[in-house]
Amino acid sequence: MRAKVGLFSDHGGYTLKQDLLNCASEYNFVDYGTNSADAVDYPDFANQAAQCLKDKTIQKAILICGTGIGICMAANRHSWVRAFVAHNITEVKLAREHNDANTICFSGRYQTLDEVKIFIDTFLKTPFEGGRHARRVDIFSKI
Ligand code: RB5
Repeated sequence: MRAKVGLFSDHGGYTLKQDLLNCASEYNFVDYGTNSADAVDYPDFANQAAQCLKDKTIQKAILICGTGIGICMAANRHSWVRAFVAHNITEVKLAREHNDANTICFSGRYQTLDEVKIFIDTFLKTPFEGGRHARRVDIFSKI
């Protein structure tokens, strides 16, 4: 079964989120807003994503703000969120294999749809390696 993936953005990520939704048949996306280009606060969307991951409404989250940075920082305040900003395929692969990342973050202003789609495909298909990496993830999950 395809993982249910929540899409969350502020106004800086709105256009990229909408572009991703237009490819929705390739994915199992659920859109959590924002729903216009009007200014909103990215921590609200990061918190909502964290809640959805916690109650298992979604299995993975995609967060988009202007840079990808603020929404990533806010999401990682929740101990069960493992979010990162993706810049290349190697990082995406390792974030899954070594860090069991459950959240990928993008810049709506500086990244392209084509690039982001490639990262999402890798994010969704790469398994966690477990073993020594599970021990390390357990350590920081308890902080
Ligand atoms: C909003 O203008 C912008 O600050 C936000 O989208 C994000 O880039 C924050 O990190």
